[in-house]
Amino acid sequence: MQVDLNGVINHKYKQFNAKKEGHILLKGRSLIDPSDFTRDEFREIFDLAHQIVENPESYRKSCNGKILATLFYEPSTRTRFSFEAAMLRLGGQVIGFSEPNSSSAAKGESIADTIRTIECYADIAVMRHPKEGAPKVASQYISMPLINAGDGGHQHPTQTLTDILTIERLKGNVENKVYGFCGDLKFGRTVHSLIKFLSNYKGVRFILISPEELRVPEYIREEVIKKSGIPFEEVIEMEPYMGQLDFLYMTRVQRERFFNEEDYIRLKDRFILDADKMKYAKKETYILHPLPRVNEISTDVDADPRAQYFVQAKNGMYVRMALILKLLGIY
Ligand code: NCD
Repeated sequence: MQVDLNGVINHKYKQFNAKKEGHILLKGRSLIDPSDFTRDEFREIFDLAHQIVENPESYRKSCNGKILATLFYEPSTRTRFSFEAAMLRLGGQVIGFSEPNSSSAAKGESIADTIRTIECYADIAVMRHPKEGAPKVASQYISMPLINAGDGGHQHPTQTLTDILTIERLKGNVENKVYGFCGDLKFGRTVHSLIKFLSNYKGVRFILISPEELRVPEYIREEVIKKSGIPFEEVIEMEPYMGQLDFLYMTRVQRERFFNEEDYIRLKDRFILDADKMKYAKKETYILHPLPRVNEISTDVDADPRAQYFVQAKNGMYVRMALILKLLGIY
């Protein structure tokens, strides 16, 4: 008997991607890494997100009776609040913890047991964890969708959704653009996820601005950027490159991931964007930042119309509304 492996794989693929009124269904899927979804699948999420931005009111009962669980083992403001606000604005409800010591993790419960328990109560869950790979492991124990809200210095795919929605709203699409990334490119997980996502698009170029010690990890440089053939430069100054950029993505130096405080103190103020430096940028060079900022963007930049980081934070809620709707199979 011949086993038609393609048939099996295709069958599985079709099950996952069954079409509903011309849409790709993402029901039951988890989002752990930007490579978990295809370009078409991401397109579905962004198209829905744009519709929600235009008309949020019409979605306010879409998640009636559904529960989102938020498991935050690391501090968060925007990611947790935007997920919670997203679910509440969809008419659903939220349970969870933002302080792991208030959960049974403090008693030594494993992530596997915690997530299996949460699955008894919720329809979808969001997890942030200091250990790289923790959300992936957790997702293997459950069948409800799990969203990675940041795992250590590794990935943060929903910040990428936020960033891409913002880029599309400002410039229409992500292609044929020069992206500057500045700051802690080594530990900054939002940078890793955004680079991974953008590397699938044509005409993209990266300028990676960081101190020598905080360059992107080797797996991002070799396995993602070089493999996709994306032109890139690694540089140690900001001003000479500002005039080339369509977007400048600033990041804070990730103090909590440093091995020693001296290195942090030595590197933390290496790049500070201020109103003076903005003079080197083009009229339409937009400044993004996942936030929180420490002092890498001076507050005198905030009133510049090119500063888009608070708009970006708002877009984070809309795109998470779209993600929740898609993973629950409501849209
Ligand atoms: C980022 C994170 O947690 O990785 N914050 C966020 O989710 N918006 C960036 C950071 O902490 O520097």
